[in-house]
Amino acid sequence: MKQLIIQGGKKLYGSIAISGSKNASLPILAASLLIDEIIILRNIPNVKDILTMKTLLESIGKKIEFNILKNEIKIYPTKIKKLEALYSLVKTMRAGVLVLGPLIAKYNFARVSLPGGCAIGSRPVDLHIEALKKMGAKIKIEKGYIVAEASKKLKPAKIKFSSISVGATENLIMAATLCKGKTIIQNIAIEPEILDLINFLNCSGAKISFVSKRSIVIEGVDKLRGINYSVIPDRIEAGTYAVAALITNGKITLNKINREMMSNIFQILKKAGAKIVFGKNNSVTISRKIIKPTKIKTMPYPGFPTDMQAQLMSLLCLSKGSSLIKEEIFENRFLHVSELKRMGANIKITNQSANITGIVNLNGAEVMATDLRASVSLVLAGLAAKGTTIINRIYHLERGYENLVSKLKQCGAKIVLKNV
Ligand code: UD1
Repeated sequence: MKQLIIQGGKKLYGSIAISGSKNASLPILAASLLIDEIIILRNIPNVKDILTMKTLLESIGKKIEFNILKNEIKIYPTKIKKLEALYSLVKTMRAGVLVLGPLIAKYNFARVSLPGGCAIGSRPVDLHIEALKKMGAKIKIEKGYIVAEASKKLKPAKIKFSSISVGATENLIMAATLCKGKTIIQNIAIEPEILDLINFLNCSGAKISFVSKRSIVIEGVDKLRGINYSVIPDRIEAGTYAVAALITNGKITLNKINREMMSNIFQILKKAGAKIVFGKNNSVTISRKIIKPTKIKTMPYPGFPTDMQAQLMSLLCLSKGSSLIKEEIFENRFLHVSELKRMGANIKITNQSANITGIVNLNGAEVMATDLRASVSLVLAGLAAKGTTIINRIYHLERGYENLVSKLKQCGAKIVLKNV
């Protein structure tokens, strides 16, 4: 078992190069199933979820090389073996369900495990299934698997999602790309990671265009071509290290960020007292005077991302006053609260809202990570806390943060990874 041990109270100074986006890389990797030519993907982070997606695509039949030193993945055209995503892979990474759209579109069949429950909520896939049914897929649930079949090819449709879902939008975009005719998809998610998937597909020959803010039209093409593509930077990783600068009252320059994609995050961090100075070559420097109490609710993009909620909460624990965070995306995403309380935080939960009363210091404690972003919020709290924080179950962190320990160490953090 691995533990992270942090001696808190050290101000962090330095610079951090932001990795490629995990959540953009995953759907783009799934979309490789639509393409029969060589694909080169650059700026792919070396994190566990990417390795899980690689294993999943290899089990389907793709030949993939991951050059970890160059953060580059090469995918070769091969004969597909098995139109299936096994439970053992999808249960550890919900994004496994993203192979459903491309498989049914290209091979008229897919057997994909239901993701099941996870710590932050039930996370159903009804929106994915209903929309694919509208495109003519026959779908049944058998022994925990989604079994999808199309007698010939999927047919174009007009689909309006009843609520906004990142994954369902991605699955449908991939499904419609090779579908002859015009598919209209309304009320889509417009997270930067989705725009990156659309850009990747359009660069490969797809015809996807926006007709309004949340509506796209996809004109199906016969085939997509091979491509050499660089994935966008990880805005959540960048936001996390911005909070590391703020919570420790240090000063960190983040390199290789995308400023526009992060404006919603920066806007809230500014409200919380951040001084944000943009530099040359896509860099930004983050520091502060005091941490100000802040009110936010998580919303689909361009709202404040649920994936930054836990990190912001750690910061607001040390603000001068009372803050309010409303979680509007997931029903059970306050699992970090009980652990933060063990470090001395003053937080009260009512339904989907957290009332946070700022305190002067957090105290180090032994805590347990429960999901990816909850885990990193505990790391941030530990960096600011008095004394030693020990974080257990850190495999969650390995799912989504590339070189977390070394990136923090290079800014002066006293953090070690220990095998116990
Ligand atoms: C993606 C991100 C995740 C982020 C989330 C919300 C990836 C790999 N993961 O997850 O980091 O936290 O977006 O920004 O990109 N829902 C349904 N039915 C469905 C699908 C979703 O009810 O068929 C609900 C979910 O339970 C949740 C909400 O819709 O409450 C949003 O989920 P969704 O946007 O689909 O999240 P993911 O794609 O799973």
